Amino acid sequence: MSQVLIRGGRIVTAVDDYHGDLLIENGRIEAIARHLDVPDAEIHDATGLLVMPGGIDVHTHMEGEQGPAMNCDTYASGTVSAAFGGTTTIVDFAYQNKGDGAKKTVEERLALADPQVCIDYSFHLILTDVNPDTLAELPDLINTEGISSFKMFMAYPDILMVDDASIYRTMSRVRDHGGMVNLHAENGAVIQVLIEEALAEGRTDPKYHGYTRPRLMEAEATHRAIRLAELAEIPVYIVHLSAPEALEMVVQARDRGVHAFAETCPHYLFLDKTEYDRPGFDAAKYVMTPPLREHDCQHHLWRGLRFDDLQLVATDHCPFCFNEQPLGLKYSKRIGADDFSKIPNGAPGVELRLVLLYDGGVKTGKINLNRFVQLTATAPAKMFGLFPQKGTIAVGSDADLVLFNPEKKQVLSAATHHSQVDYSLFEGREVTGKVEKVFSRGRLIVDGDRFLGQAGQGQFLKRGASGRIL
Ligand code: URP
Ligand code: ZN
Ligand code: ZN
Repeated sequence: MSQVLIRGGRIVTAVDDYHGDLLIENGRIEAIARHLDVPDAEIHDATGLLVMPGGIDVHTHMEGEQGPAMNCDTYASGTVSAAFGGTTTIVDFAYQNKGDGAKKTVEERLALADPQVCIDYSFHLILTDVNPDTLAELPDLINTEGISSFKMFMAYPDILMVDDASIYRTMSRVRDHGGMVNLHAENGAVIQVLIEEALAEGRTDPKYHGYTRPRLMEAEATHRAIRLAELAEIPVYIVHLSAPEALEMVVQARDRGVHAFAETCPHYLFLDKTEYDRPGFDAAKYVMTPPLREHDCQHHLWRGLRFDDLQLVATDHCPFCFNEQPLGLKYSKRIGADDFSKIPNGAPGVELRLVLLYDGGVKTGKINLNRFVQLTATAPAKMFGLFPQKGTIAVGSDADLVLFNPEKKQVLSAATHHSQVDYSLFEGREVTGKVEKVFSRGRLIVDGDRFLGQAGQGQFLKRGASGRIL
């Protein structure tokens, strides 16, 4: 029987904060007490460290295809990067190709990811082809495979976008089975017109990505998504919310008693649209969707996080290299060198979520430590059917733990991160806080700068119902 004792740390959950010892047996938390003596256990001294539930990132894109482009992190490199950042579970995406069935899509993704992942994982199923056969498969996928969340795009016409009828049909189909629909909420048709107009005027620089995706069109789609969910009487989840006008739609819905939920991402909390003024092609590093917004949007997002109008923070880690070499054009932003509308959309971040939120949220007094754990671990687990196996520190829960040094300073850089991407959105930023050790089901996988995990050691998680948070 493997026993691990974490001694003398400050144990922080979404509701607790105390000093104590924690015993792990066979990958689960066995006992928590002020002091524990276990003679044969492997001992880790956590004096001066925060002991928190491992982070759960419910929005990552590993090995995702985007038209001619492909994310530059594999499930192997991406989950190593996640682990170094204190994230012990990801919910990534299985992408349905038009014509493919739902179950087949998930099975193929599982076969790709499973031998590579070093932390536990699940998928949201991205639906692009909502037909009677696909719809018929969804209840079984929820009930037997544990895939209870379905992502649909209201943007990216001709590639991923689905119409309102497809969204409504999916909502109606999964409602009684504990399913939830996650929406990328932007009005894709209008944005396409704005893109065509910009290109016709010769505006091809990366900064026009931001100009052609206005906040109002995020708000419009957020409103539409919520109203469809209201009609279907099902919870709804808005991914990567960036605009105060969209947040207002969520707030109004919640005030009406609708189960409307939303996430935001670190780049919307810490960066703004002035990044698009960078010279030359450098601004392409910041081409993600929705785009970075005006600086004063940030305080609305923080208010949302504080008062639970935004329930959690995910990264939308969707990395493409800046340079063509060494991985090749397919993995690079350079695909859009002459036309902003061809730049692969997305940015890296899976390794930085905890440290950025700690430094920029907890240290600055915007949120407290309990809220930090809620936003990074507990709420994601509850939202997507993983609680209490994941997302907390409690007897019987998986021993997914982060030992975090709250005082250590570090400088963020692509030179020291573990993703395959060749740049950082936060290059050179000094932050306070560092992940010292990470345990995945009781196994030490990160120890300082050393990676001790193994590809394939992550387990696929069959999830319970999504969005049924009362
Ligand atoms: O720019 C982004 N967010 N790329 C990833 C795909 C998506 O829209 O989530
Ligand atoms: Zn999206
Ligand atoms: Zn995404």
